[in-house]
Amino acid sequence: MSQPALSPNTRGLHIITWGCQMNVYDSARMADVLQPLGYRPVETAEEADMIILNTCHIRERAAEKVFSELGRLRLICEARKAEGHNTLLAVAGCVAQAEGEEILARAPYVDLILGPQTYHRLPEMVARVARAGKTVIETDFPVETKFDFLPEDAAPQTNGNLTAFLTIQEGCDKFCSFCVVPYTRGAEISRPVSSVMAEASRLVQSGVKEITLLGQNVNAYHGLEDDKIVGLAGLAERLRTIPGLERVRYTTSHPRDMDQSLIDAHKNNPILMPFIHLPVQSGSDRILKAMNRGHTAEEYRDIIRKLRQARPDIALSSDFIVGHPGESDKDFEETLQLVRDVTFASAYSFKYSPRPGTPAAGQPFQVDEDVKDKRLAILQALLREQQDAFNASLVGTVQDILVTNTGRKKGQLNGRSPYLQPVHFEGDISIIGQVVKVRITDQLTNSLSGVLL
Ligand code: 5AD
Ligand code: SF4
Repeated sequence: MSQPALSPNTRGLHIITWGCQMNVYDSARMADVLQPLGYRPVETAEEADMIILNTCHIRERAAEKVFSELGRLRLICEARKAEGHNTLLAVAGCVAQAEGEEILARAPYVDLILGPQTYHRLPEMVARVARAGKTVIETDFPVETKFDFLPEDAAPQTNGNLTAFLTIQEGCDKFCSFCVVPYTRGAEISRPVSSVMAEASRLVQSGVKEITLLGQNVNAYHGLEDDKIVGLAGLAERLRTIPGLERVRYTTSHPRDMDQSLIDAHKNNPILMPFIHLPVQSGSDRILKAMNRGHTAEEYRDIIRKLRQARPDIALSSDFIVGHPGESDKDFEETLQLVRDVTFASAYSFKYSPRPGTPAAGQPFQVDEDVKDKRLAILQALLREQQDAFNASLVGTVQDILVTNTGRKKGQLNGRSPYLQPVHFEGDISIIGQVVKVRITDQLTNSLSGVLL
């Protein structure tokens, strides 16, 4: 969407976002906290007075990618300077958290370095850079939470979208062997119910129909309401009372926190979409143990059985890692077997990459790269087959489609199914924003087409 031209009192803000949906959410909140200083989003770095690179540390070569992008951005800042503009350059997110000192040493031209838990301090940091004239770094885990400092009256940055993210939980205490999140995002915290409800209401007032609740362990949510603790099922029940909110999703869940109340909620609360991202990582008990996941493959299968009992049309997606240290051919075969048993509507799969400072990085029996490559190809072929089969299984069915925008062809509308598939069909633009019944007639490469009923 194109941005309006800047008025003389406003400054251009360009945020580059890498990584997960939570980073997308964080970038929007950084724009919110900078709004009172006059910063407004601009589309290119070349027209910005401040550039923020919001980084991701989850997989390999994260830091190198950041340094190479910073080199490119530095040139843009220098060109702006030659034209008489002073452009601030900031590095935010998980690489800033994990490698702040390294960035300071290798890229001293960066003005601000801030971790994911300190972006509410951005306005103060901007003032400090102006005073100090050298890099300001904020990568501690402050006692106050950023959620307490988000401007409540900031117009939600939804860009007229009908769907939005909302972070309700952040951080992780689970310490899976391979994962940097507990070190970069810090300890697990949940936002109070009232704060989530207020933000959800604001989003709905601005036209949002579908909210995806975000958290690294979103189903471990335990927000306070008065003196009581409310879980994710309870929160979804409260969200159901917001008039105009049609759909709620949540991601990412952990199998250990998939409790009976949440399983029951999928039966009783129609606002919850029947599509859950529930990473299992591996189908081998030996590897699940080495990963410190805290559950077995059978316990995962059992959760899926219960979910399908509660809501027969539920579909699953997952994350997988191949080649975790110690993974044998037999372990990998057990992962394939789990995939065959469960069947997934979609999935993400990755080669294990050692992350500095995590327990698995130092373990013996690292798996060869070519073995990882082969396993990944086999797993992805199977997952692709299942995804195609799932999409094909919807042809002939009637689905509830949230109509999101006009399509590329004249008279065509786009929408999304309960399973997040893009769906195209013919209809009048007046139904954009509604949930309508569409009979699915065809499966295309990455979408479905149908007829409006
Ligand atoms: N190597 C490969 N994949 C990883 N993930 C997290 N850490 C690593 C790693 N070190 C994957 C997991 C997680 C997803 C977000 O990224 O599958 O669920
Ligand atoms: Fe990482 Fe495991 Fe925590 Fe998920 S549960 S964020 S994979 S440590």
